[in-house]
Amino acid sequence: DALKSLKVNRKRLMEDLHHTCQWGTGKRWGKAESETGMTRLALSDFDKQARDWFVKTTEGLGCKVTIDKMGSIFAVRPGLKNDRPPTFAGSHLDTQPTGGRYDGILGVHAGIEMLKVLNDNWIETEYPVGVVNWTNEEGARFPMSMSSSGVWAGSIPLSTAHNLREVHPGTATMAEELSRIGYLGSVPASHEATPMAAHFELHIEQGPLLEMANKKVGVVTGVQAYKWLTINVKGRDTHTGTTDLKSRADALLVASKMILHSHRLATANNALVSTGILNLKPGSTNTVPGDVSFSLDIRAPADETVARLLGLVEQDFSKIAAGENLSGFVNITEDFDSPATTFHASCIDAVTRAAHRVLGPEGKSLTMEMTSGAGHDSVYASKRCPTSMIFVPCREGMSHNPEEFCKEEDCAIGAEVLLHAVLRFDRM
Ligand code: GLV
Ligand code: MN
Ligand code: MN
Ligand code: MN
Repeated sequence: DALKSLKVNRKRLMEDLHHTCQWGTGKRWGKAESETGMTRLALSDFDKQARDWFVKTTEGLGCKVTIDKMGSIFAVRPGLKNDRPPTFAGSHLDTQPTGGRYDGILGVHAGIEMLKVLNDNWIETEYPVGVVNWTNEEGARFPMSMSSSGVWAGSIPLSTAHNLREVHPGTATMAEELSRIGYLGSVPASHEATPMAAHFELHIEQGPLLEMANKKVGVVTGVQAYKWLTINVKGRDTHTGTTDLKSRADALLVASKMILHSHRLATANNALVSTGILNLKPGSTNTVPGDVSFSLDIRAPADETVARLLGLVEQDFSKIAAGENLSGFVNITEDFDSPATTFHASCIDAVTRAAHRVLGPEGKSLTMEMTSGAGHDSVYASKRCPTSMIFVPCREGMSHNPEEFCKEEDCAIGAEVLLHAVLRFDRM
């Protein structure tokens, strides 16, 4: 049937993607027209401009657009029958501070391209289909990743997300920024108010496995577990020139030992532990820092591994502090927890079959199943509706870096798999 041969317009997909990347800054490699680099923090003025484009474009394509109290934007194209919730394609338009043009952005644009292909071909789907732009997926500006889909799923309280304070400079909250840019919507942020029949997300792999294996499409079967902690070490501010080494309570020295130790724990437990935020006060060359806090991001495929690491961190960090005469001056808070996720057989099957169709006779040998090392809004979507993801290779597996790059051909393959997975689910 005609649906089976639908193709995306590769040129239009890339033009749209680079068009919206005018709203942001980032490394442009000295060229006005760049294929890489984007800085567009959640709820910044640039994010507002990209959002405005999303709303205008999807409304222009005949969608009904709703915005929830987390600023997530849902664009829905009606179906022949509208007594089932829409099947969504979703991802995010926000980026890391030194991000690329593909992480998240590709998934949203592929969803819009899907709508355009349906319109161009006068296709009426059985049920509604939609595209969602989730707010603050990165958790880079407001330090909780996937925060809006988490609220939508009922896993994160709205007030917790609204009260998140930006990492730098630490003044505005998420609620303030949502209202400042005009995206504090009126619809409750919940799966009850905005139900989904399914959620499909196209994303770059952000790792090297597809490229190394010479595969074109990753069928994502789940996502590894992770936890985010904040460690605070209280020492004592003292003069660097007059305080002998033994008389110091150097919070940074203690924090450094903890960070090194966390790396050893990760190695020993076949897990990942990383520090990406480090704050030291008072921040003066000639004062020993008395107040240090740092982030810890712990990841592993199994929940038990992450839990074990948390236990080890708590136990060993207090020993390290005690060894430096700082016992009782370490505080560990658990900010965020995302257990291991398993996606749904029906959606995994839809993605697999769509990939085989798009890739043709060699489809089976160009596709592989994999789990995601990174978190995605699909983690929370999967708690409330059938979900799966499509990965495409990115250059050297690089992401969260301005050099992040996904070939036009691979972007188009991914978008086409997304289109066919959604159409397949529409008829399930
Ligand atoms: C979210 O994208 C994460 O993996 O940190
Ligand atoms: Mn992403
Ligand atoms: Mn990211
Ligand atoms: Mn992510």
